[in-house]
Amino acid sequence: MPTISIKGKNMPESPIRKLVPYAENAKKRGIEVFHLNIGQPDIKTPDIALEAIKNNTIKVLAYSRSEGSEEYRQKLANYYIKHNINVNADEIIITTGGSEALLFAMGSVCDPGDEIIIPEPFYANYNGFSTASGVTIVPVISKIEENFALPPIEEFEKLISSKTKAILICNPGNPTGYLYSKEEIQKLATIVKKHDLFLIADEVYREFVYDNVQHQSVLSDFGLENNAIIIDSVSKRYSMCGARIGCLVSKNKEVISTALKFAQARLSPPTFAQIASEAALETPQSYFDEVIIEYKARRDLLISELSKIDGIKVASPKGAFYCVVELPVDNADKFAQWLLEDFNLNNQTVMVAPAAGFYSTKGFGTKQIRIAYVLKKEDLITSVKILKAAILKYNKN
Ligand SMILES: Cc1ncc(COP(=O)(O)O)c(C=O)c1O
Repeated sequence: MPTISIKGKNMPESPIRKLVPYAENAKKRGIEVFHLNIGQPDIKTPDIALEAIKNNTIKVLAYSRSEGSEEYRQKLANYYIKHNINVNADEIIITTGGSEALLFAMGSVCDPGDEIIIPEPFYANYNGFSTASGVTIVPVISKIEENFALPPIEEFEKLISSKTKAILICNPGNPTGYLYSKEEIQKLATIVKKHDLFLIADEVYREFVYDNVQHQSVLSDFGLENNAIIIDSVSKRYSMCGARIGCLVSKNKEVISTALKFAQARLSPPTFAQIASEAALETPQSYFDEVIIEYKARRDLLISELSKIDGIKVASPKGAFYCVVELPVDNADKFAQWLLEDFNLNNQTVMVAPAAGFYSTKGFGTKQIRIAYVLKKEDLITSVKILKAAILKYNKN
């Protein structure tokens, strides 16, 4: 019998997708499932992006350049400059989603056995990307009680070893919604420069910042030209998850020339989706203004409704569209499955993402879930009602 690789066996299941069969079964039984589990926004993709595909007259759907189309990268550089990120087209590699940019970044800076320090909880797929790259994640713990603020810098320094190659942050954070302050990025800048590390910043939620606070990019004014790598994506910005377009940005020439070799090995990013993404750059500011107002209203509503449930702890997100909630249940994994298999309120239930998969430390987050507030306000109210009734019933069982 041929055997599967150890790496393959160690690949983690997605904590977000593993409950899908239970949700499908619930739907077959006639139960309506509210999806709070996945970051698929219900916001409309800008017309301008969709029209660019519909109106296209391409006769041959050819490969593009491995680093992405010249026109798109030029326009993208202008987008970054508007966001105080001073880069040019040669410092950008277009990827198949932010996911591929993460793989290219890890592949470019780490050898198997190397370590990356990541504030925990973190985007669950970092576990998968690091397993695929043979990289060890060294978590630095952030706590729900402290609203997932960046742990003191000394905590990072304690974890740096001869194998450490990078610190990876997600800003604003998935799943925490945490937004790093200028001072925090400054502190990280000092530490990566002192120890000659890379600072990889996953900024795919850059636009989703509330309360009039400004997003701080690692490539803004922190003197990180040699150290910083930005991971970016159109998935959330323009509600274009299915386009599968992202990018890796760095002013470090060696990082770009190395990432380009990974890009060449997979030939090119998708051609049609680059056309849509290029057009999406023309999306008017009013689109974002409306989207931000909507998400902020959803966040405020969700947090206030959740806070009414006895025994719940919830961190207040400052960005992105997620929050981590600690529930008064024995095990959030079991509870999430039970919600789909054994519970409904008026023929409706909710699907949530158990948060243990957002930690690499075993035993952490076992009572926590991540909620994505990607549903309209009425559905969020209904969802929290369902959650409240479910917690009561579950704890009586
Ligand atoms: C923090 C973060 N980074 C990266 C990604 C990957 O996104 P994509 O590959 O769709 O660009 C996601 C998707 O949810 C995410 O939440």
